[in-house]
Amino acid sequence: MNVCPSVAMAFMGVSLLESCSSGGEDEVDNGGGSNNQGYTVSGNTVVITLSHSTFSTLNSNGWMNFSAQKMLLLKIDSSTYRAFTNSCPHQGVTTKWSYNSSQDKFKCGEHNNSFPTDCTTKGTAGSSPLKCFTSSFSGGKLTVTKS
Ligand code: FES
Repeated sequence: MNVCPSVAMAFMGVSLLESCSSGGEDEVDNGGGSNNQGYTVSGNTVVITLSHSTFSTLNSNGWMNFSAQKMLLLKIDSSTYRAFTNSCPHQGVTTKWSYNSSQDKFKCGEHNNSFPTDCTTKGTAGSSPLKCFTSSFSGGKLTVTKS
């Protein structure tokens, strides 16, 4: 007879919290991978599952600083997204970004320079354009190639 040990133990008055499921794949993420965080990385390519909670800010605010992968993400519409480096072209600060939707510009609060999102127009103070990454959207996933 094939009886689950914890069920058998329960009959004997022993209480166990352990279940009898056989799989181990859904155990707690140990932080070593990115599979449970809504994206996967393979070399320079990042594949993002946009419905994952990690990207809820992108959906609600229209943009986010995806700092784990050093990129800014911008939602143009439900099937059009752009990705940029999050390293400010001025002096490389990565954490002071905001987005002005009426001007369609990212602003770095470190020295208040702003950058158009067309990948070619220079920022204020003569700074280089904000570098774009190649991206494509299909089936709810955004694929970004960092280069
Ligand atoms: S580092 Fe961003 S504006 Fe100076």
